Amino acid sequence: MHGLVNQGLRDLVIEIGGEALWVEIATAADVGHESFLCMDVYPDDVTYRLVGAASAALGMSPSEVLHAFGRHWIMYTARRGYGAIFDTMGRTLPEFLGNLDAMHTRLTLSMPKLRPPSILCEPLGGEQFRLEYRSERPGLVPMLLGLLDGLADLYDVTLSVTQTVARAEGADHDEFLVRYRPVPSGTGPAPEPAAAARRATPSLVTEATADG
Ligand code: HEM
Repeated sequence: MHGLVNQGLRDLVIEIGGEALWVEIATAADVGHESFLCMDVYPDDVTYRLVGAASAALGMSPSEVLHAFGRHWIMYTARRGYGAIFDTMGRTLPEFLGNLDAMHTRLTLSMPKLRPPSILCEPLGGEQFRLEYRSERPGLVPMLLGLLDGLADLYDVTLSVTQTVARAEGADHDEFLVRYRPVPSGTGPAPEPAAAARRATPSLVTEATADG
């Protein structure tokens, strides 16, 4: 995957435990260096090894790390100059998800070797939609669920997600039924998504700080 992904993971770890924790994790993962060039492509194995090492160091399961990373990715990319893209993705969560494949495709202009997932969003009416997720990579459903949680923060909605088709059970893709509801306190107009991303604080970091 592109170095941007590994740098996003690095950013999350440093927010949780500082530079020293990241060096410990990068060393345990045996990736050979402690930072990555965002536009360079690294073997997927590097990312999986970093997730494994972060899981051991943080006492979280790999799924929990991937989930936290997915959630963090929204704010991280907004901060790294991709915020303007978020503003063009639509006023609702299903609209955003419906535009996601086109967005990843647009990114191939600057990242020609990008191998993005394929995500299909079918609105079902009544604030629910069906989401199909196809990836050539295994095991990234928790990251997708974290991404959805990050987007829910962005759009001021709460989510209820039920997996209806699973690669882990032999299917060729994963599928979800998602219900979303506006967060009750959100009375004013929805903020521009990128602005919301810039002001948001990762919940994991909040918890880590509160506990520490
Ligand atoms: C502007 C924001 C975004 C950027 C710059 C971006 C870019 C990327 C990059 C560089 C990768 C690694 C793939 C590779 O290097 O071959 C990736 C993977 C991925 N992206 Fe995005 N992405 C963005 C937003 C999103 C959002 C909002 C979602 C929400 C569903 C998403 C879903 C995924 C998933 C699930 C993967 C994992 C790869 C896989 O499933 O095979 N991305 N993205």
